[in-house]
Amino acid sequence: MKRLGILTSGGDAPGMNAAIRAVVMAAHYYNLEAMGIRGGYHGLMEGSIQPLTLPEVEHIADKGGTILKTSRSKEFMEEKGRKQALDVLRSFDIDSLVVVGGEGSLKGAEKLHNMGIKVVGIPGTIDNDLAYTDYSIGFDTTLNTVLDCIGKIKDTDFSHDKTTIVEVMGRYCGDLALYSALAGGGEIISTPERKLDLGTICSRLQSRIDNGKHNNLVIITEKMYDLQELKHYIEEKLKISVRTTVLGFIQRGGSPSAFDRVLASKMGVAAIELLVGGHSGLAVGIKQNKMIHKELEKVNAEKAEKGNQYRLLDILLS
Ligand code: F6P
Repeated sequence: MKRLGILTSGGDAPGMNAAIRAVVMAAHYYNLEAMGIRGGYHGLMEGSIQPLTLPEVEHIADKGGTILKTSRSKEFMEEKGRKQALDVLRSFDIDSLVVVGGEGSLKGAEKLHNMGIKVVGIPGTIDNDLAYTDYSIGFDTTLNTVLDCIGKIKDTDFSHDKTTIVEVMGRYCGDLALYSALAGGGEIISTPERKLDLGTICSRLQSRIDNGKHNNLVIITEKMYDLQELKHYIEEKLKISVRTTVLGFIQRGGSPSAFDRVLASKMGVAAIELLVGGHSGLAVGIKQNKMIHKELEKVNAEKAEKGNQYRLLDILLS
């Protein structure tokens, strides 16, 4: 192995740049030439590939987004698109690849591995929806952004004795909502793993109001409810006025936290060392504070299991 490519794919996540930096630095350490593939799998199919040098990555660890840009490519999901990508990799003499991204991106990485390219995946997604790793790059930064926003909403809710529903990202994973509540950000939470029906949300709010707590924060994961319908339902049932805030794409940006930068650095080096050791078809991760790696095939088949954290939530918010 002499020449490797790196790409970022799917939704950007803070810390992706720190991962790129670590990969390029580790590649340099092992005398490999690093090639930056711009625009995710779409850019790979288009041959948007250039050498990525140390000076280009030296000062990017603190930057949000991804200097390589990213995309969600429908064409790459088709066999024809993947064959095109393979031809491009061969024409650039790239036989090894590091893919930084979430669920869909790691599925793409597995497909390329099955086509004979040496691939290692790095989990980069704010959603934290990959079961094989405790944390993905970006989750910690986004969680801090969410907590910062929620703190500001709580200030005004307290002053006016208001109830606000805050919708956070996460796609089909409730970790951002769950961890926000664990960190003291919200009183009632509803996530895909633990969905509350409208009646339960109202009865929990009512019992807080009965206990004299008139400023309440309900955190919900996106894609679960019609927000306006939920607001009006609560307003009619409890005869209170309810505010709603969708945090939206503010959650994807910003300078990565120290945790995400360190995690990205560890994962970047681990990915290169696996490739240097002749391995392929793996994703790196962190489990109980230890770096791990697992076959992409297993990673992509696993479903998230968040049982213990919900037990903690039940104790804290009982
Ligand atoms: O996967 C990251 C994420 O921000 C999700 O939380 C969200 O559902 C989705 O991406 C939004 O995707 P897009 O950027 O394609 O609108």
